[in-house]
Amino acid sequence: MDDSIFKYCEDHTSQPSAEINDIYRSIALHTAMPHISSTPYQGQLLRLLSLMVRPRLAVEVGSFAGFGAVHIAQGIPEDGCLHIVEANEEYEPLITEHLQQAHVAHKVQLHIGQGADVIPQLPDGIGLAFVDADKLNYERYYDLLLPKMAPGGLLIFDNMLWYGRVMEAAETDLRCDRSTRIIQALNSRITADPRVDNILLPLRDGLMICRVREDGEKC
Ligand SMILES: C[S@@+](CC[C@H](N)C(=O)[O-])C[C@H]1O[C@@H](n2cnc3c(N)ncnc32)[C@H](O)[C@@H]1O
Repeated sequence: MDDSIFKYCEDHTSQPSAEINDIYRSIALHTAMPHISSTPYQGQLLRLLSLMVRPRLAVEVGSFAGFGAVHIAQGIPEDGCLHIVEANEEYEPLITEHLQQAHVAHKVQLHIGQGADVIPQLPDGIGLAFVDADKLNYERYYDLLLPKMAPGGLLIFDNMLWYGRVMEAAETDLRCDRSTRIIQALNSRITADPRVDNILLPLRDGLMICRVREDGEKC
């Protein structure tokens, strides 16, 4: 998207609170790779989706410094829980600090571990799941999460355009790297899956939003 159009969109989107701005600044100051965090604009979309669904049970796979989590948590009811899974234990103190700063720590349970190990331990009935971790496991996350989703729940994958590489080569082209092939295959699988309605948005690196169909719901 043209930079000036994107700037216009950002300017005409609810602006982040002072706490959210402070957390975003803290990520820039205290991490070596701040660019892997969600941005305030993407955070606002996650927040809106969570506020629309009001999930009692939500999951984020790959939390980094907790910026996506603080937004999703804002839509979780007081008696709900957002389970967040992060493989790198070094991020734990920063995640905890940011959840407290956003006043949502009481609604979030942090699991330090691998997404593929933690997801099977989570209860069924997930109303919103956001996957933003290792791309090589994306198909696995889809297979693990979909049966655990509540009817009408949202299953969201980030990086589904993979910096445009998904368009460079056919899924079967061996010159294409593994992550690209996995993301291409998952985009095709999701689009053909009768269990979900989906939209791939060209937002940042591509956000795939799937809504799990309710019993008897037709295409
Ligand atoms: C793009 S960042 C996540 C950004 C975050 N979702 C946000 O909205 O700001 C990806 C994170 O996934 C974590 N990660 C990588 N492999 C993982 C795995 N197998 N299980 C859980 N987390 C993983 C990385 O350590 C990193 O912190």
